[in-house]
Amino acid sequence: MATALCPGSFDPVTNGHLDIIERTARHFDDVIVAVSRNPQKTKSLFTLEIRQEMLREVTDHLPNVRIELFTGLLVDFARDQGAMAIVKGLRAISDFDYELQMAQMNQQLSGIDTFFISTSPQYSFLSSSLVREVARFGGDVSTMIPKSVHARLLELFDGDASGKGA
Ligand code: PNS
Repeated sequence: MATALCPGSFDPVTNGHLDIIERTARHFDDVIVAVSRNPQKTKSLFTLEIRQEMLREVTDHLPNVRIELFTGLLVDFARDQGAMAIVKGLRAISDFDYELQMAQMNQQLSGIDTFFISTSPQYSFLSSSLVREVARFGGDVSTMIPKSVHARLLELFDGDASGKGA
């Protein structure tokens, strides 16, 4: 049984994340999407519980995927879950420095290897932080995130995603 972790803050999950989760699910028996607060990102939009709920909704079609919240070190969570790999998406060279550093630290701490999947080109510009910013100012992000996540954003920004009333 090969278990992989797809970790991230997923605030909120985008179509780019979903693409990586779906592709990971083709290669491993069991995939745990591990949601946590990124200590380097202080401003969050959704609570961890809502992020988990949204991820559950959009991965409903993937029987070997489950969504878990974790606190503390990713490698400790990986060990607890019996995961043998961490899988991350790489969008561009700008992701590489940070991701390589984390992969090497995690490897050093625990021996767990990180596997990188190249992001599909249509999603290479996409990030949760940009989606949050664009949505807050009323931009159209409907093609960048799953429908159910878009509905939550609309709800949050007073029905018009403009953030003017928020
Ligand atoms: O989607 P993100 O914000 O890039 O995800 C980053 C995340 C949550 C995967 C990372 O911050 C993390 O692993 N946090 C857990 C704490 C930890 O293990 N820190 C050491 C990383 S080498």
